[in-house]
Amino acid sequence: MRYIVTGAAGFIGSHLSEALSERGHDVVGIDSFTDYYDPALKEENAADLSVSRLDLAEQNLALDGFDGVFHLAGQPGVRSFGDVFEVYVHRNLLATRRVFESAAAAGVRVVFASSSSIYGDAETYPTREDAEPRPISPYGITKLGCEQLAHAYAKGFGLDAVVLRYFTFYGPRQRPDMALARMVRALALGATFELYGDGLQSRSFTYVADGVEATIDAMENAPAGALYNVGGGSEATVRDVIATLERVSGRTLDVVDGLAAAGDVRRTSADTSRIEHDLGWRATTSLHDGLQAQWEWASVRVAAP
Ligand code: UGA
Repeated sequence: MRYIVTGAAGFIGSHLSEALSERGHDVVGIDSFTDYYDPALKEENAADLSVSRLDLAEQNLALDGFDGVFHLAGQPGVRSFGDVFEVYVHRNLLATRRVFESAAAAGVRVVFASSSSIYGDAETYPTREDAEPRPISPYGITKLGCEQLAHAYAKGFGLDAVVLRYFTFYGPRQRPDMALARMVRALALGATFELYGDGLQSRSFTYVADGVEATIDAMENAPAGALYNVGGGSEATVRDVIATLERVSGRTLDVVDGLAAAGDVRRTSADTSRIEHDLGWRATTSLHDGLQAQWEWASVRVAAP
């Protein structure tokens, strides 16, 4: 098959592109190499991929000859209040609207990477897909808006879209602004890690290779219009993660207490029974093994000249 991956130079997009190529698919990556974090890291992620530069909010995707689009490009980060909201609107809503319009016109399936943050402080835990969405971050609001766009383009123009709600992916190449990337870096360098709030906030942390499997399964086997949580098998607090990383690394993290951040939810907990039932997918990597892989990747990089 011939696929487009948007956001191919990012953390998840680069893993997805590699996995698709390894399975014999042709992959064309699209990325605008924004400077939300150091674009050199994105260049490195994309070193072995073919990635074109395109601002999806400004230019349509040419989809002739493609079998599907994995739309992962977007402005990430839940701590998203302030004037930066315009960036979220541009890179999430405006870009996604254009992707959906092009895909609907070409009759090509889109798998869209949404986020657990659309649940906000969720109605129920573990959270099923039919829980009321009530995001508490501007980021989550734009992701929910994108989901609604998928629905509108499906209704109005026959778009074949599958929406995946990713729950805090981690692993090698994790975005440098995310908690686990900061922890492993601090451990490797002997630097401090700022803990937002009491550390008892929890997440369904999801190992990136597991999430990539779910994403490819969704393209290949999900019914049109499907909506799935993609979450790791176990929920852990930020303090649990610190303890596990300390065991894995044999080091002690120098934690500095900071304030809880606006936009952060207290808890995420994925009910993944729907994707398990439909596609037979469930996360298989334990937090310990996933953190070990991320630690090994990061510590080698930090040690390198
Ligand atoms: C992550 C991603 O950043 C979002 O792009 C994604 O959409 C979202 O997961 C999701 O699942 O929907 P988040 O869960 O906030 O968002 O991921 P982290 O940045 O790894 O934060 C995890 C926890 O660690 C949060 O409670 C945060 O407050 C805490 N944290 C983060 C710190 O204590 N210190 C830091 O320096 C960074």
